[in-house]
Amino acid sequence: MEDDKIEEEFKLDGKEELKLDREYQKKIIERERKFFEEFKTFNEVFDQRTLKTLFSLLAGKHLTEFIGVVSSGKEAVVFKARKGKFYRAVKVYRVATCDFKTMIKYLQGDPRIHVRRSSRRMIVHAWVEKEFRNLKRASEIINAPKARLRRENVLVMDFVGYRGEPAPKLKDVTLEWEGCFKEIRESMKKLYEEGELVHGDLSEYNILVKDNSPVFIDFSQSVTIQHPLAQPLLIRDCINICSFFKKKGVSCNYKELYKYITGKDINPVDEMMIKQL
Ligand SMILES: Nc1ncnc2c1ncn2[C@@H]1O[C@H](COP(=O)(O)OP(=O)(O)O)[C@@H](O)[C@H]1O
Ligand SMILES: [Mg+2]
Repeated sequence: MEDDKIEEEFKLDGKEELKLDREYQKKIIERERKFFEEFKTFNEVFDQRTLKTLFSLLAGKHLTEFIGVVSSGKEAVVFKARKGKFYRAVKVYRVATCDFKTMIKYLQGDPRIHVRRSSRRMIVHAWVEKEFRNLKRASEIINAPKARLRRENVLVMDFVGYRGEPAPKLKDVTLEWEGCFKEIRESMKKLYEEGELVHGDLSEYNILVKDNSPVFIDFSQSVTIQHPLAQPLLIRDCINICSFFKKKGVSCNYKELYKYITGKDINPVDEMMIKQL
């Protein structure tokens, strides 16, 4: 009864409600305008829809602020952002310049993804959906950033670094190589056996090093082990990893690595298919 009374006292009449609504909308529009203006300082050109998506992450309090650009590639830009006291990496795909023919090739054959409409934008959205799911699955099993959320062409994940400084890539560090190779080999095996995933673009460029341990990133090309391209992709991953570690003086062989991961010898037909990847 008491509660009812209180609620009654705070009730607004229709007019006042409308006025508040309008004021709120005005505030949001103003914030959005300011955000678009400030975003120009990053020198990154996105279409209006992408900017709106990025703004919606702030408005929805999924992020507190965008801090800077970590990497700017042909297909995607990675931002450093913050959510409260935590850093986040935000990967934004450029819809206009994505190689969407390759995207379709990898999306087809993935039982988790159904691309109904095949506009360029829809393909990119499906691509991000796939990367999000891959990352989510991988980070539960191996050392990889936790996937936080995806929205349209934007993927938010944990930031791998030290107090906001991104962790270096494997190619740029000096380590105890033998041990590092074994850790990577173990992660590849776990990803295959427990996650039923093949990374598909594994190299010294897509492995960061934090606290002397490898952290796998960039699961955009990853496929489930049932995918028709899974074996050729895994063979290529093994070749890349071994050629890097050989240069570091570790004795390794891609055929042995493949066998260690899958328990099988390489099928020559799969190996021939690498040329078509
Ligand atoms: N979670 C992350 N934490 C810190 N840095 C990241 C993270 N994800 C990506 N990066 C940085 O951004 C770069 C590009 O990201 P990546 O996912 O590999 O995209 P691309 O498709 O452009 O290769 C990486 O090489 C790395 O330096
Ligand atoms: Mg990469």
